[in-house]
Amino acid sequence: MNDQTDEIKEKIDIVEYVGQFVKLTKAGRNFKGLCPFHQEKTSSFVVSPDRQIWHCFGTCGVGGDVISFLMKWENLTFYEALKELAEKTGVKLENGNFDDTKWDQKEKLYAINRATLKYYQYLLAKTSYGAAAREYLRARKLNDKIINTFELGYAPSSWDSLSKYLQKKSFSLQDIAASGLIILKNQTHGYDRFRNRIMFPLRDARENVVGFSGRLLKEDARAAKYVNTPETDVYHKRDHLFGINKTKESIRKLDNVIVVEGEFDLITPYQYGVENIVAIKGAALTEGQLNIIKRYTKRLTLALDTDAAGVEAMKRGITLAEKMDFEIHIVEFSKGKDPDEAIRADKVQFLKDVKKARPIYDFLIDSAKKKYPEDTSFHKKQIGNEVAPFIKMISNPIVRSHYIRSLAGILNVQEESVERLLRKQEFHAKTNYASKKKETTSISRSELVQKYLLSFLLQHKKLADIFSSENMVLEKEFFKIPSYASIFEKLKEYISDIKEEFDYTKFVGLLPAQTQSVADELFLFASDLPEMDDRSFYKLGFELGIDELKKSMQTMLKESDTPDDAKLSALSEKLKHMEKTYRSL
Ligand code: CTP
Ligand code: MN
Repeated sequence: MNDQTDEIKEKIDIVEYVGQFVKLTKAGRNFKGLCPFHQEKTSSFVVSPDRQIWHCFGTCGVGGDVISFLMKWENLTFYEALKELAEKTGVKLENGNFDDTKWDQKEKLYAINRATLKYYQYLLAKTSYGAAAREYLRARKLNDKIINTFELGYAPSSWDSLSKYLQKKSFSLQDIAASGLIILKNQTHGYDRFRNRIMFPLRDARENVVGFSGRLLKEDARAAKYVNTPETDVYHKRDHLFGINKTKESIRKLDNVIVVEGEFDLITPYQYGVENIVAIKGAALTEGQLNIIKRYTKRLTLALDTDAAGVEAMKRGITLAEKMDFEIHIVEFSKGKDPDEAIRADKVQFLKDVKKARPIYDFLIDSAKKKYPEDTSFHKKQIGNEVAPFIKMISNPIVRSHYIRSLAGILNVQEESVERLLRKQEFHAKTNYASKKKETTSISRSELVQKYLLSFLLQHKKLADIFSSENMVLEKEFFKIPSYASIFEKLKEYISDIKEEFDYTKFVGLLPAQTQSVADELFLFASDLPEMDDRSFYKLGFELGIDELKKSMQTMLKESDTPDDAKLSALSEKLKHMEKTYRSL
């Protein structure tokens, strides 16, 4: 297993691999980019080709190898990530050699869902039970090809046929219940969740069948129009985007995604050749969903219900998307109440409408105007209050001032009044932010200096020269974090034995595993800063040394009423000398 892990890692270049998902630029010996695991505007995500590791120096503060990157990126278990990379590199994994019960359980649910998909599909396509469902789909103008593409099926009007079928395939009742396909009445009995419905398999971006959605054939006031798989180990509504497995390539290619509500709103346009779509299944757009989308594009074209309730439901998603730097447009169709109807009504018009999609701010201003149409000061104030929170999120100053002007025009007030309104709202947000920021960046200057110094050393080729210089004043004791101190000590030992260029990779291999990751972090730490020259390094070392001396003299004076005079004057001599050398450097 370990050998295979190493073999896989050897076959993948981390810069190339991570570079598929994160835009990386060269920074010294390393590469850096915006961390994909938290929101940031300055790059604190570093990838090292030498070490084949990554590290985020921002909010996350974590790092690892290519496997841990994929685990985090796709939210996978270790074995799932390993399996994916094994397939990519053609390394064969020995079976049964791993212990990953979480993965086992997920794999079982996928298997149950796959078997169910085939069962429903067969019933729809090949049996008389499926006749009415076939008729329904034909009435909604779906052809056989699209029915196959999306693997549509039919759940029969029966309480236990799926349950019996799956048990015959030797899945246990407990596992079937865990998949959400049956609802347990007691330990030994359950009934099928989906009955007499058109079935849509829900696949994730990696083609796993995570669940199902079922639609009634006939509207019936006593039953929900759609029934979905409940939350399971593999289906999380908040992280699901219907259709993404089929549409992600088109989304990437067109660099734009049309976000729709329902299954039919995705499938019908797809049949008409519009393939850059995902469906959020009626719910509000979540952060989990946006995180998936942002792998493929940063441009959203929302084709969601825009009645008053719809707009309210959209607002949180819009705020999230804005914070994540998405460019957001809203499309409203001239014909038909949703994308399914609109494209069937008039494909050319549908495409025109998509092209004419409005920037989100224009849309929000218009819908506030619709909500408060009167030319009264009360209604104007309401419009201002509704729109300002969105305008204040705009980071581009040109776009921002454009909308400030336009809002001022609508409200018939001075631009300054709008600015004042924004500032008022901003004040609150800022004070919150500032107090949070303080907590996370409490690293002291001295600790930062220690980090820089070690980072410099670990990246230096001619380390032996540095250590033998008379300007090199660093001592183990200067490093207050134990792992820093021990890295420094090991480095000093190591360098005294070697004559050739310093090779970090060889050195780090000699450290205990725990210290290795600290060293890796240090190695990457200063890599995106302008290179420090030797002189600045020595000076910084002096700075730290002088600080240390001062501190120990202070402690001596504080801790004793009769401090050792000889020792104290020796220290003060040393201090004087150091300060003099420091100034002459
Ligand atoms: N939905 C759901 N549960 C419901 C109703 C709706 O999960 N009880 C989801 C479905 O994915 C549905 C979407 O929300 O497609 C939008 O709902 P709605 O607008 O009511 O239906 P349509 O998409 O127009 O569905 P259809 O065209 O089949 O009537
Ligand atoms: Mn519809």
